[in-house]
Amino acid sequence: MSIIEEIDEKITGLDPVESLSYLAERFSDQIVFSTSFGWEDQIITHLIFSNDIPIKVFTLETGRLFPETYYVWNRTLEIYGKPLYAYYPDRTALEEMVNKKGPSSFYESVENRKECCHIRKIEPLKRALKGNQCWVTGIRMEQSANRGQMHHLEWDEGNDLIKFHPIFDWTLDEVKQFVKKHNIVYNALHDKGFPSIGCAPCTRAVREGEDFRAGRWWWEDQSKKECGLHVTQA
Ligand code: ADX
Ligand code: SF4
Repeated sequence: MSIIEEIDEKITGLDPVESLSYLAERFSDQIVFSTSFGWEDQIITHLIFSNDIPIKVFTLETGRLFPETYYVWNRTLEIYGKPLYAYYPDRTALEEMVNKKGPSSFYESVENRKECCHIRKIEPLKRALKGNQCWVTGIRMEQSANRGQMHHLEWDEGNDLIKFHPIFDWTLDEVKQFVKKHNIVYNALHDKGFPSIGCAPCTRAVREGEDFRAGRWWWEDQSKKECGLHVTQA
């Protein structure tokens, strides 16, 4: 039996708090949760902080986030009084890219966009995950066709760890209801047509009927629209 199958058996039937608590105990200080301050992530942050689950919470501070995102970040610190760790891009790599190509090179080609995502997100993510055995995320199945193929618990080959998505099968309605019921602080952009919120220059609102991720890197081909944080899954 693989470790994934074994853990899956243990957490089947548990709610998100019970599953997170089980994993926190099993992996002690080698389990982390990444937040982008979207409402899925705010729910998980709420569960971790309000239940005192010992999981380190971190964010990838790309330097290009929306003002609304920084507001949620601040409020979250105030409300829960718990630490939230920021990982920044490598200064030298960032300066080199911006000085050579300007501040908005990502609009010019997929290659440039991937370079920017690599510097601002992927390299800092690698640092944040280093030495850990389990990575918790706010991914939900219905967010994209690709994510529909994923599983709430999976082996991440590229990062050599277990990935766990505690609210993987929640619908958007369930997310909204939970946020409302528990009065969880959330990004005001969600009420303005932004189901998915990334960096400001690379995220726009979506129209009624458009898919969840239509507002991310909207100028690119559908098939290329992942930034690389979650590409290792089929
Ligand atoms: S992305 O691949 O398009 O950027 P998405 O915005 O859907 O990801 O978010 C999925 C999950 O990736 C989030 O629930 C969160 O765990 C993680 N994530 C995305 N962006 C960040 C970020 N800037 N900092 C930390 N975690 C992030
Ligand atoms: Fe750069 Fe846009 Fe990727 Fe953010 S989403 S890291 S601004 S290319």
